[in-house]
Amino acid sequence: MKTLGYLEIRALFLKHLEKHGHTIIPSASLVPENNPSVLFVNAGMFPLIPYLLGEPHPGGVRLANSQRSLRTIDIDEVGDATHLTTFEMLGNWSINDYFKEEALRITLSFFVDELGFDINKLSSSIFKGNDDAPKDEESIEIWKKLFKERGIDAKVGERIRELGKEDNWWEPDGGGPCGPDSETFYEVDGQLVEIGNDVFMQYLKKDGKYSPLGKHNVDFGGGLDRLAMVCQGLSSVYETDIYLPILKKVQELSKQEGIKSQRIIVDHIKAATWIIADGVVPGRTQREYILRRLIRRAIRHGKKLGIEGLFTRIIGEIAIEQFKPVHEGLEPRKKEILNILEEEEKKFNQTLEHGLKELEKLITKLNGRSFTNESGETFKIYETYGFPIEMTLEELENKGIEFDREKVERNHEKAYGEHQEKSRTASKGLFKGGMADTSEMSTKYHTATHLLLAALYSIVGPHIYQKGSNITTERLRLDFPNEEKLTDEQIQKVEDMINEQIQKGLPVTWKEMPKAEALKIVKYAAFEDKYGDIVKVYTIGSPESPFSQEVCGGPHVENTKTLGHFKIVKQENVAAGVKRIKAILE
Ligand code: ALA
Repeated sequence: MKTLGYLEIRALFLKHLEKHGHTIIPSASLVPENNPSVLFVNAGMFPLIPYLLGEPHPGGVRLANSQRSLRTIDIDEVGDATHLTTFEMLGNWSINDYFKEEALRITLSFFVDELGFDINKLSSSIFKGNDDAPKDEESIEIWKKLFKERGIDAKVGERIRELGKEDNWWEPDGGGPCGPDSETFYEVDGQLVEIGNDVFMQYLKKDGKYSPLGKHNVDFGGGLDRLAMVCQGLSSVYETDIYLPILKKVQELSKQEGIKSQRIIVDHIKAATWIIADGVVPGRTQREYILRRLIRRAIRHGKKLGIEGLFTRIIGEIAIEQFKPVHEGLEPRKKEILNILEEEEKKFNQTLEHGLKELEKLITKLNGRSFTNESGETFKIYETYGFPIEMTLEELENKGIEFDREKVERNHEKAYGEHQEKSRTASKGLFKGGMADTSEMSTKYHTATHLLLAALYSIVGPHIYQKGSNITTERLRLDFPNEEKLTDEQIQKVEDMINEQIQKGLPVTWKEMPKAEALKIVKYAAFEDKYGDIVKVYTIGSPESPFSQEVCGGPHVENTKTLGHFKIVKQENVAAGVKRIKAILE
């Protein structure tokens, strides 16, 4: 077998697929567009769902790429030798074009002819059938034939294994195009490592039921990082050429041993650089929270290793250096990414200090008794200081305080539930006193957000884009990249410009167009590395000389004159290089 580097394997795969008539498409962002069923893209096929369902793709019916992916499900397993939070998935797709034989031939040829894998160590598995779909007899015959061509007499039950739905059926979370799959394995030190998966998508899962898709698609996926590990004859992904310099740096900074903590730092900081590069900032909800958790978990493990001082920037910088050839957002946003990491680290260090003080008080109060969490203390500490329950418990353990983990966690949940209930009641009260028609008010704020973005772009500069937005019936909130807070003069100018557009009574219209076309006319799309599907472009003003044009799902008001008077009420620093504006319509 050849010893190939991560980037070499990646290039070989894409070249191999190109040779087989595939169009190489760019990786989509980790943040899914127009599909709320998952928080992050978790498989190569995910951004292609519309095409696998029937929409034509501008690249044709044979596509391939290396798609960055994130799987949070594995977050607790990270730290072992092979699990990663973010990774690249090599993928090729037939959109109702070739099917099983060509797919498996392409897969096998990649491993044997391109990567030089020993055919004697390769094996496969196929779907054995269930009530939803029959046994994949066809793939058995194809594998026998493919092995025979290479001088191997492959037998069912040995080299070709028949497995059930848990192993040989693939479907995206939340349903969609799916079907039986055939996995390819390579034997390393007596262990079978899965190196590729060809999914034969002939079914559609909707509302929990399967029906024929009316197409025969192929979705191949193979984890590049693990493949590099196999190619390099290693037993840990963290020692492969692309990760090793990051691991070495972590080890250099560590004052204590702890390979698991070191791997967690490598994985989490690398993942954080990718997520931030794709436009997410640390925060309290959803994606933002996952990002925050990753950074904070890395910091906690840094403390376990005795790493002194701020270190996320140092690790982040090497991670960016290593992965910039595969994630085009890393290099241009490097400064911003590193600032965000460091700011989160500083914030967390402060939190830890305050939280620890609070914990000391609690310990004094306990006075040697065991901890029950009866009044939800862990939740209060979390709510006030962002101190996660695991850390509180770890600290109590260190201090020799006894507790029943299950009971403590139950009480934590209870306190959390009560808190949720209180906030729900509070927001109901808020709506009662507010506008009668809440959807109308949020629609107005939606349009006002477009005006704000256009005004910022024109007054503050072309680096402005929407990093995050949140609309309630009471106000709008917009996050955008900017080193400095806006000056009073800039704020005045932005407000004036927006109120002028409102008074002009500009029409708000929309048109559907392919994304590639949309990207030519909109000035501040956050993710320009994708193209293909049809998007809606909203225009404020005349199409010849619009005030604003944005890719957006809507809804919006029909004319700006209904908006009233626009006023910025607050400006905040949310993270290094990211500012937040809150504004109201009066
Ligand atoms: N979508 C398939 C997987 O993730 C290829 O395994």
